[in-house]
Amino acid sequence: MTASVSAPQPTRGKLASSVSAEQLTEITELFQNRRLGYSLDSPFYTDPAVFALDMQAIFGTHWLFATSVAEIPEPGDYVTVDYGPYSLIILRTDDGGVNVLHNVCRHRGARVLTEASGSTGNLVCGYHSWTYSPEGELIHASTPGETKFDKNCFALKRAHGQIRAGLIFVCLAQEPPTDFDQVAEIFEPYLAPHDISRTKVAYQQNIIEEANWKLVMENNRECYHCDGHPELACSLFPTWGLSDESVPTHLEEVWKRNKQAQASLEERCRRYGIPFKVVEELDTRIAGIRISRESLDGDGESFSPDGHRLSKKLLGDLRDFRLGRCSMHLQPNSWFHFQSDHIITFAVFPINEHQTLVRTTWLVADDALEGEDYDLETLTHTWKQTNLQDKAFVELCQKGAASPVYEPGPYMLSEYQVEAFLNWYTQRVLEHLA
Ligand code: FES
Ligand SMILES: [Fe+2]
Repeated sequence: MTASVSAPQPTRGKLASSVSAEQLTEITELFQNRRLGYSLDSPFYTDPAVFALDMQAIFGTHWLFATSVAEIPEPGDYVTVDYGPYSLIILRTDDGGVNVLHNVCRHRGARVLTEASGSTGNLVCGYHSWTYSPEGELIHASTPGETKFDKNCFALKRAHGQIRAGLIFVCLAQEPPTDFDQVAEIFEPYLAPHDISRTKVAYQQNIIEEANWKLVMENNRECYHCDGHPELACSLFPTWGLSDESVPTHLEEVWKRNKQAQASLEERCRRYGIPFKVVEELDTRIAGIRISRESLDGDGESFSPDGHRLSKKLLGDLRDFRLGRCSMHLQPNSWFHFQSDHIITFAVFPINEHQTLVRTTWLVADDALEGEDYDLETLTHTWKQTNLQDKAFVELCQKGAASPVYEPGPYMLSEYQVEAFLNWYTQRVLEHLA
C-alpha cells in the first residue's frame, strides 16, 4: 500500500511546563524502582504528572495507530484524533497518501476542524476564517491594513504519517523511530491478504473508559480474565496465553481442541501461502509487536456463537473462510483481529490520567450489503459486549489504584504480555528521560 511520509516539523515538548524538576526526580525514581512481575505503583495510573510524561515520552515519540484507509477512502476525507493534549487532522491526499496536521490554528490556536470525520477541500478555521490548503499552508487570511503579515510563516504544523497494509500511523516526534519500517515489513504479509483498501466501515464504537490508558492496554494483553467474556469465549479459545505447562485442569479439554484446530489452520495456511507463525517482539524493540494467526473454536471462521462467518463476503483475495484470526498487538496503543470475513481495529486514545477513549471499528468487504451479506447487530455483538465487560474490569482497577491501601500485585504466567507491555513502557520512558 502507498506510503506517504509528511514533511517533518517539530512540536515543542511541553513537559517542562507541566512537571516540576522535583516531580521529575520523583517520577524517575518511580520508574527505576519498578518491581518486575508486579503491577505498577499507584501514581503510574493516577498522577497527572506521570500522564504528562506519558504524553511526551510515549505518545509524543513513537508511531501510533490512528485510523485506516477504510475510514478515509477518498481524497479530502479526514478524521480528527486526539492523544491527550495533541489533536491531529488526518487527511487523505490526491495521491492516496495522508497529510497529518496539528489541529491548532496558527492565528489564536482554535481547533480548525471540529468534527470527528468528514470531507473537505481547504481547511477553514471557524473563528476568523483563516484558510489552509490540504498541505497546511495558510492560503487566505483577512488582513485589512496589515503591512508586515507574511502568510508563509503561519502554516499548520505537521506531523508524520504513513499507510502500511491499509493502516494509518502517525508520529509526533521530529525524528520518528526508524525501526517501525522493519516492523511494518513483518506485519504486511500477514495483513495484505485481507486487503483493507477493499473494505468499508460497517460500524464504529467509541467508549470512554474511566481508567488510565495503561490499564486499558494491560487488560488487552491477557486472557486470564476471559471467564468474564461469555460471548467471546464461544469462539476465542480461553486458553490464549497458556502453554502445555500452565493449562489448568478445567481447560484441558479445550486446550486439546485448540491444538487440533491450530494444526488444521496451519495446514490450510501452508496450502494458501498465508503466514501464520508467531512473531513476538513486544519489549525487545522500539516498535513492539506481536502477530500470529490463531484458530477459532467451532467452525473456526469468525467471532460468532458457533464460530461461523458473520459476513458472507470474503475479504481481499481470500478463498477460504476457515482462517481463524490473524491478531496483532502493537505498542503502545492498538490491537487488531483480521478474520476472513471482517476486520476489527482497536485504537486507544488517552484523554487524561483517568480517562481513555477506546475506538473499535468493524470493517467488511466493500461490496458486502448490510441486511443481505451481514446483519450489523450480529456482526458487532461479541466485541461490543466484550468491550463493555473490559471497560468494567479496567474501571474497577482504576478505582483500586486510587485507594490508599493499593499495592502492586503479582502477574501470573499467562499475563506475561502485560509484563512485556510494562517492560516496553518503562524502558521507553527511561530512555526518553536519559
Ligand atoms: S483562531 Fe483560527 S482564524 Fe482566528
Ligand atoms: Fe477482556
